[in-house]
Amino acid sequence: MIKYRPMKIEDYEGSYALWKNLEGLGLSSADSFEAINVFLDRNPAYSHVAMDGDVIVGTVLCGHDGRRGYLHHLAVAKNHQKSGIGKNLFKLCFEKLAEVGIKKSHIFVVADNENAIQFWKKNGWEHRDYLIIMSKQVE
Ligand SMILES: CC(C)(COP(=O)(O)OP(=O)(O)OC[C@H]1O[C@@H](n2cnc3c(N)ncnc32)[C@H](O)[C@@H]1OP(=O)(O)O)[C@@H](O)C(=O)NCCC(=O)NCCS
Repeated sequence: MIKYRPMKIEDYEGSYALWKNLEGLGLSSADSFEAINVFLDRNPAYSHVAMDGDVIVGTVLCGHDGRRGYLHHLAVAKNHQKSGIGKNLFKLCFEKLAEVGIKKSHIFVVADNENAIQFWKKNGWEHRDYLIIMSKQVE
């Protein structure tokens, strides 16, 4: 049976192993141990893992800035996909966001990740193609 619980920094190694084995997730310096530690501290109990026994088979990072929610790295191990884990994980995030009055969440999807785009659409997310992301290095 799959169990869900908030992600702890001790889950980093298992989560990273899952992320690097899946296509479609853009990994960067924001995924270092130190960076994930900061993220989890800043957003306590918003991010979740799905466990099959001792093995992390699903993750989602979640946070908010007081205005909108943001999800990152929704990921489900290949042999556990299409069994409801991805949907359960983002719903857990929505429960946490709703508790603090956040009414909308965004995600960033790599433009050629057709599987994820179809997943999000199937689950009620809107593709807002009139918006683009712009980014700049702070340092
Ligand atoms: C995207 C991903 C997280 C989906 O996880 P999942 O656990 O397989 O999805 P679920 O089983 O929870 O699916 C929930 C619903 O979406 C549907 N769904 C799942 N993948 C779908 C797809 N590619 N296209 C259309 N519908 C899809 C399911 O059929 C299910 O529908 P239902 O509620 O009517 O039964 C998984 O494919 C994954 O880890 N992909 C690689 C990493 C990635 O790209 N993550 C997204 C980054 S933005």
